[in-house]
Amino acid sequence: MSNKVETEKRRTFGIISHPDAGKTTLTEKLLLFGGAIQTAGAVKNNKIKKTATSDFMEIEKQRGISVATSVMAFNYLDKRINILDTPGHKDFAEDTYRTLTAVDSVILVIDVANGVEEQTKKLMEVCRMRNTPVIIFINKLDREGKEAFDLLDEIEQNLFIKVCPLTWPIGMGDRFKGVYNLYKKELNLFSPNKTGISDDIQSISNIQSSELDEKIGTEAAELLREETEMIEGVYDAFDRERYLSGEVAPVFFGSAVNNFGVQELLNTFCEISPSPRGRETDSGIIEPDQSKFSGFVFKIHANLDPKHRDRIAFLRIVSGKFERNKFYYHVRNNKKIKFPNPTSFMAQDKSVIDEAYPGDVIGLYDSGNFKIGDTLTEGDQFMFKGIPSFSPEIFMELENLDPMKTKQLNKGIMQLMDEGVAQIFILQPGSRKIIGTVGQLQFEVIKYRLEHEYGAKCRFVPRNYHKACWITTDNEQQLEDFKRAKTRYIAEDKDGNLVFLAETAFLLQTAEQDYPDIKFHRTSEFILSKKK
Ligand code: G4P
Repeated sequence: MSNKVETEKRRTFGIISHPDAGKTTLTEKLLLFGGAIQTAGAVKNNKIKKTATSDFMEIEKQRGISVATSVMAFNYLDKRINILDTPGHKDFAEDTYRTLTAVDSVILVIDVANGVEEQTKKLMEVCRMRNTPVIIFINKLDREGKEAFDLLDEIEQNLFIKVCPLTWPIGMGDRFKGVYNLYKKELNLFSPNKTGISDDIQSISNIQSSELDEKIGTEAAELLREETEMIEGVYDAFDRERYLSGEVAPVFFGSAVNNFGVQELLNTFCEISPSPRGRETDSGIIEPDQSKFSGFVFKIHANLDPKHRDRIAFLRIVSGKFERNKFYYHVRNNKKIKFPNPTSFMAQDKSVIDEAYPGDVIGLYDSGNFKIGDTLTEGDQFMFKGIPSFSPEIFMELENLDPMKTKQLNKGIMQLMDEGVAQIFILQPGSRKIIGTVGQLQFEVIKYRLEHEYGAKCRFVPRNYHKACWITTDNEQQLEDFKRAKTRYIAEDKDGNLVFLAETAFLLQTAEQDYPDIKFHRTSEFILSKKK
């Protein structure tokens, strides 16, 4: 089959949500519809939670938190679906942000009772940065929650995106009767069903007909008619182009745990979501239909087997066709590498593949060649942009507790940084190491892994920085003055870029005022754009 046909079949997306909104449940139900798993209701006994997400790390097993981001591929209708799973825990938000660079669209799950939550806002911010198309699934309609119109207002105001309901709920909680599909003009009647996968869908082309009253009762039918009229007045009709440009989010209502509204979501997703899109590089956009292969690493998964220091680099294919055992060009290292065992992930199974196409995510066994953001090509010299680091929120100084193991500690910490576990800032001049993360949990992960994988012992001492800002300027003199004035707060990141560790928001603001020629970057995206 041609590259173009293969590419157009693919749908690569992520499911995102504030923890507990139902991301895992929805993922499992989608896998169920896709025939990728057979056991419905497995959420309860947690079986699939353990196998469908790749929790290779011991620490993850101990804590039951999905530290890892994994890929779940399955075929549905005529599509090849790639779901990139993202860790729900907020301490692993960076991991999620990076994964979002590898998807072409997202499904955002919102709990009907909780509405827009803290993590929902942050995730949407990242989607907005890239104009990622978003479909919203409002979950847990089998429980009491916010009124649909109020919730949609809340979404528009807090997530800065226009919404377009494609289904509409009929009651909620004990009164929940189902949803009306405004797009297809179908009534989907609710019956709690944790194990089956078929919805009771009935076509009602005219909601004025008495058939509706017979199905859901006169009161509910009247209300639905009224609300449908309001919807038409308030929201624009669905426009696929506006969805694809990230301007409007279609909204579905349902109950993931009851398999309700999920198939509807999946079918519409297959119909409207984008096929693999191009990606920006430092020398222009690479489109998926370009014949030469290219891809980028957005995730490195460590030590599947702690005895061998194996890593898996997750590569998103952007253009061309990837082939097993063919030499590809590792742009940053300026070297050619071939991969005898590239892996694809079909729900629970991993298998070696011979070829892969744009939109696919493959696992490459790695013995330390890759860093997050690396580009592979057929020989071209470009790098993909847009896998930024964000300023961390928590900072700690790394202290070596076993001087005999200094070498192991240094090697271990640098490898963990390459995997994107956290960020390192080395105070200048000198070698004091500040580790920055978005969550407390990473410090425990680092400590544990340094000890178990590298035999090194460390402890972390809190440091009170407010933000780490990457600094750039064309005014060398001003930079020298700044460095002299702020000696104790100047560091380098792992790639040698200059960073200012600001202790407070006020100090950062005054630095920006006093040194107007210096740019203070909150993310490292600028580095990717200047890289050649
Ligand atoms: P997450 O990945 O977003 O963190 O959420 P997850 O799917 O783990 O769901 C969080 C909780 O919400 C789970 O309950 C799950 O069963 C429940 N849930 C998901 N969808 C629905 C729904 O449509 N209706 C209702 N009422 N509940 C839903 P739990 O008690 O934490 O776990 P479990 O024992 O049920 O597995």
